Amino acid sequence: MTRRLPGDMPPEEFRRFARETADWIADFLAHAGDRRVLPAVTPGSTIDALPAKPPDEGEDMSAILADFDRLIVPGLTQWNHPGFFAYFAITASGPGILGEMLTAAVNTNGMLWRTSPASTELEQVVLDWLWQLMGLPGHVFGMIHDTASTSTLHAVVAAREAQEDLAIRTRGQSGAPPLMYYTSEQANSSVEKAAITLGIGQENVRKIPVDDVYRMRPEVLDAAIAQDLAAGRRPFCVVATVGTTSTASIDPVPQIAEICRRRNVWLHVDAAYGGIAAIVPEMRHVLAGCELSDSLVVNPHKWLFTPVDLSAFYCRRPEILRRAFSLVPEYLAATEDPRAVNMTEYGVPLGRRFRALKLWFVLRYFGRQGIIDNIREHLRLAREFSARIIGHPDFELMAPTLFSTVCFRFHPQHSGDDRLQALNRSLLDAVNRTGRIFLSHTVLRGHYTLRLAIGNLRTSQAHVDEAWNLLRSKAHDLTL
Ligand SMILES: Cc1ncc(COP(=O)(O)O)c(C=O)c1O
Repeated sequence: MTRRLPGDMPPEEFRRFARETADWIADFLAHAGDRRVLPAVTPGSTIDALPAKPPDEGEDMSAILADFDRLIVPGLTQWNHPGFFAYFAITASGPGILGEMLTAAVNTNGMLWRTSPASTELEQVVLDWLWQLMGLPGHVFGMIHDTASTSTLHAVVAAREAQEDLAIRTRGQSGAPPLMYYTSEQANSSVEKAAITLGIGQENVRKIPVDDVYRMRPEVLDAAIAQDLAAGRRPFCVVATVGTTSTASIDPVPQIAEICRRRNVWLHVDAAYGGIAAIVPEMRHVLAGCELSDSLVVNPHKWLFTPVDLSAFYCRRPEILRRAFSLVPEYLAATEDPRAVNMTEYGVPLGRRFRALKLWFVLRYFGRQGIIDNIREHLRLAREFSARIIGHPDFELMAPTLFSTVCFRFHPQHSGDDRLQALNRSLLDAVNRTGRIFLSHTVLRGHYTLRLAIGNLRTSQAHVDEAWNLLRSKAHDLTL
């Protein structure tokens, strides 16, 4: 214990522990696959291991780092593990981590252009680069948010603001006709959450049914909008998805965009996972029609090797975002200059951390070709795993494999549906309990379904082989 003098850690002490921490990170990444993916802990174990009271005197940095290693790391789910196949797998890449370290060091707050000119401008440059990498035409206003949930929330605010005659920003929603919001049954929960947050009301969220491969049915969307219009309600926003969370299906964006244009409804595309794949030339088609959307979100922190968090939000009509969000008290007044963008005027947060730096590092370090090679390999691994599922008499593919996510279930012959649900739950538990891999699940048309999602830079053929071997051997044990 040390009584600290006023002031920060001395530079020499910082230098020493920064080096130690860098070494720790390098070892951690080099041995990412050695730990359990899912920690063997019970709820409350980390709380119980930590003191209930904060320290009165300063503690030694070496003791703090040792406790991080001893008390915290064993309770972490290892998202950098090559056997992490749950949800959507992600990577904190080396260049991304270095960017994140420098972001913490410079500690800028990019609320206004003046409060950090380079971070504001770098954000515009990297988002423009990403737009180009995805093969989308022209130039569109972009801003970085923490998550796709926040990006979609901003899209829905803009969509509502676009209903100019309702003047909701000033009058509120109470006197307005019911605002109707459309998405598919397969949309991510964040889409509905935006409606909850904004007081749209869950009852006014129309979840449009999907076709046999989980895509929104545009003719049902069109009919639902027509019905709401006829009843005096106000359709204002459609959210289509490129790469849905359960199956990675792709809504028919070109047809949906045509409906939105004809009906004068805002189209937001949630490409949080799938959009990144468009960087690969043969996958560019996944964003077909997105050039017609009013807004789009894609998450570099999902499949673009960028540490959590970084979501890229694009909006074709930034003047509407600004109309919705700009509120400039005297203490924030800044010189007007068309090149000096004050990002706080386009969204909820006032303070904005410097997230663009890590994406800049990632895009430069890997380059277009490096990104393509990695994503292409993930796509290949998924296709190959999918082919094994199709080729095995006791496994069943549950949805087409369009990206790097495979939906399947164990389906031994002559098993009824009730038994299949219990078997697949047990299989998921059994493989996850090994600590070698981590898969997640969903339910498709009432069927309990396993998901294997590939997206980590350290995942190779050997890890997918291990997953397949574990699945088969645990499945075999369950049927003994
Ligand atoms: C399609 C889709 N949209 C949105 C989200 C939410 O992303 P975030 O965690 O960045 O809010 C997810 C999360 O997996 C997703 O799969």
